[in-house]
Amino acid sequence: MRLSLYIGLVAVFWALSILILQAGKKQNPFADFSSPPSAPEAQEQIKQAFLHAWKGYSKYAWGKDELCSLTKSGNNWMYMGSTIVDSLSSLWLLGLQNEFQNATEWVEKYLTFNSSNTFTSFFEVNIRILGGLISAYELSGQKVFLDKAEELGKIMAKAFDSKGFPPSYYNFATGEGNTRKEIRTYSIYGPVYSPGYYSLAELGTLSLEFSALGHHLNQDHYKYLGSQAIHLILNSFESGIFPNGIYNDLSHTNTYSVAGEGDSFYEYLVKEYLHTGSKNSELEKAAIDSINDIIEKLLQQDVAGYYYLGLIKDGEFISQMDHLACFFPGTIVLAAERLGFSNKERLITIAKELAFTCYNMYEQSDSGLASEIVNLHYGIKYPWFVDNHYALRPETLESLWYLYDLTKDNIYREWAWNIFQAIEKHAKNDVAYAEIENVNRNPPNQRGCLPSYFFSETLKYLYMIFSDEEIIDLNTWVLTTEGHPLKIKTDYTNPNLK
Ligand SMILES: *[C@@H]1O[C@H](CO)[C@@H](O)[C@H](O)[C@H]1NC(C)=O
Ligand SMILES: *[C@@H]1O[C@H](CO)[C@@H](O)[C@H](O)[C@H]1NC(C)=O
Repeated sequence: MRLSLYIGLVAVFWALSILILQAGKKQNPFADFSSPPSAPEAQEQIKQAFLHAWKGYSKYAWGKDELCSLTKSGNNWMYMGSTIVDSLSSLWLLGLQNEFQNATEWVEKYLTFNSSNTFTSFFEVNIRILGGLISAYELSGQKVFLDKAEELGKIMAKAFDSKGFPPSYYNFATGEGNTRKEIRTYSIYGPVYSPGYYSLAELGTLSLEFSALGHHLNQDHYKYLGSQAIHLILNSFESGIFPNGIYNDLSHTNTYSVAGEGDSFYEYLVKEYLHTGSKNSELEKAAIDSINDIIEKLLQQDVAGYYYLGLIKDGEFISQMDHLACFFPGTIVLAAERLGFSNKERLITIAKELAFTCYNMYEQSDSGLASEIVNLHYGIKYPWFVDNHYALRPETLESLWYLYDLTKDNIYREWAWNIFQAIEKHAKNDVAYAEIENVNRNPPNQRGCLPSYFFSETLKYLYMIFSDEEIIDLNTWVLTTEGHPLKIKTDYTNPNLK
């Protein structure tokens, strides 16, 4: 017994020291990467990356929602050509006029909203399709985009319940809604379901798109639908951080985070306040209180000193940071500069620290690409208990853009360029780009398809980081959670909310 325990312990220490040595020996994946070329040259290379992906999509998946470059085929889940619609604003900003023209023709001739007889995420249709169309209208002035947005808006408007809550899933062809429910308990008659369940983000990520639509069409009903659920939440819960899951009867879960489920609710408090001319004091107060409370409750430092935003589940703090939460430094910067905070300098310092952590999620992996989720209990470097795939996500680049825009500090361009080179090295293939299976392999395997946000966000933020003149001036524009620019509407009038 004694001996086997001793041997066991030795084996454990041996295994641990190997792991620690391995982690310590890790090569910096960016060691042989070049520093950024001149800004115009960097932009040219990013534009070529966009064109490479666009050509693959045009050749193998034109009109489909997304391209699967590994199988050279197209994939539909919304049946709304979402890569085309989601790319419009980027094509415009990158100056790809011929491609924009082709995409416009497709929208005019072929875009319909009733091709799929299945349930589709209402949230995703809103941010990718409705937002993409309205932004294309605002950028180009072409009426076809507003007409299509109105056609979609009419279908979407029918989906809300009397509280102003949208369904989670919606059949855009038949008008049938579906909201998530979960089994709470069992009775002799069978399972007893919860009331309808909504994520906070689903309820709070309609305001920008619907207020823009209502503004252009001069119809308060759309403005109302975009903001009523938020108004109800702000009136029903204490201000600060909100629960990630809310039921139809306003009971709620006890999970709090700025990653998936919560994320864009907070982003839209800030951005809708700016988008509607910085007049709505209800939104401003909610945004200030929530950002301060999120920092107070979720900000922690790991053993190596990195600041991160964890999550709280049923009262327990969980030391993980999701890549999805890496948009938050950018939102802090935007809010700190433009809303009435009394602690602006501290907020900017925190945003810089968090962006540094997000960048380190790339630099400390083996491939130079970031994990979907890292567990910071043992430090960023240790790839234990995490989700190791990289889904071509934009959030870190998004935050680097806000920080570069504010500070003009070249370090953000250097970081962005390293991330771009890792994408080029590992996620590119002869057709386009693909997701990465495990970022802690070098070289890693590719997998899956090419999400449309790679066009609307990842490459757009990269391109903007290397723009010497302001393509998007934050005094005039806000970017939706899908990266679509919407003009700030100083003459916006608020609808009556209940
Ligand atoms: C536009 O579409 C036409 C017809 O499908 C195609 O031949 C052409 O290559 C496209 N142009 C661009 C710039 O994508
Ligand atoms: C789908 O919508 C289009 C308008 O966008 C309409 O012309 C067509 O008839 C509709 N199809 C069906 C099957 O309802």
